[in-house]
Amino acid sequence: MSASQTERQPAGKPRVYVTRRIPEAGLRLLDAACAVSVWQGDDPPQRATLERALREADGALTLLTDEIDASLLDACPRLRVISNFAVGYDNVDIAAATARGIVVGNTPDALTETTADLAFALLLAVARRLPEAANYARAGRWTTWGPLLMLGADIHHATLGLVGLGRIGTEVAKRARGFDMRVLYYNRQRHPAEEQTLGVEYAALDGLLTQADFVSLHTPLTDETTHLIDAHRLRQMKRGAFLINTARGPIVETDALVAALRDGALGGAALDVTDPEPLPADHPLYSLSNALITPHIGSASRATRDAMAMQAARNLLAGLRGEPLSRAVNPQAQGHGRSAAPRPWEA
Ligand code: DGY
Repeated sequence: MSASQTERQPAGKPRVYVTRRIPEAGLRLLDAACAVSVWQGDDPPQRATLERALREADGALTLLTDEIDASLLDACPRLRVISNFAVGYDNVDIAAATARGIVVGNTPDALTETTADLAFALLLAVARRLPEAANYARAGRWTTWGPLLMLGADIHHATLGLVGLGRIGTEVAKRARGFDMRVLYYNRQRHPAEEQTLGVEYAALDGLLTQADFVSLHTPLTDETTHLIDAHRLRQMKRGAFLINTARGPIVETDALVAALRDGALGGAALDVTDPEPLPADHPLYSLSNALITPHIGSASRATRDAMAMQAARNLLAGLRGEPLSRAVNPQAQGHGRSAAPRPWEA
């Protein structure tokens, strides 16, 4: 164990490794049943550190910044459950985990509304130029009321296009109703129930992009959605429309977005997730006044991070006991391979 990890309990129990400090609410649950090591760095553990720690671990509580691939899983043969502290799990090779009988959990229920709140906050902020206006006032440039000062776009009665109508997209649609927005959605499957209850309208992606004043992304990152919003799709968007991304950075082709923002094809973009992530300090996006960047804080409310920590801890504990996880990404892995092996700490 390195100085930058803490061992929270003696061995003799299943050993779990937590790849960053998380809210105590989750650590307390783990402490009660496991020997817990927590990586203490502010940045993610390096690959070699992660591998060294996971070689000794029966379970891992991981973050979206930890890349868990097949070779890591092979180097860590004790590992039988991975609990990702996130709804997204594109950082984990799910097929490789499933093939080895390693169950993977995630935390979808905890963060839905908090992330939808942030998506809507970004939409409001970029449309009404809040960061620019606040900087203008703070810089002492507010000398008079101006009829042409900081003109933005109306949100009320505008058309919102949701790419993805899962949990978070649905919550964004509910918020949009309060602003009398027309809401279009594009999703692999249609949701007739939500069309009735929320008044959302299904549209093909092309139609959504050509009609929406605001496009908000709510799809997981997969092979299909990587660069879904590329130069061609950006050109399909209405001139002056806004793009909001609280899902995953690589869904948008960054260079094409920079070009569309620069030449005024888009009115603005509000990005809580970027590609690359984190966005380097000298990235051109920061130089554009119509780009609003936040550091992946969609789920960052105190209550939600506590809830995520508890859900992630419960998933991990269930996996270690050989029980179904309340949220498993690959429940089919349960009862096979490593998850079915005897639990040495119970011997
Ligand atoms: C997730 O959960 O996938 C978010 O991106 C972080 O909360």
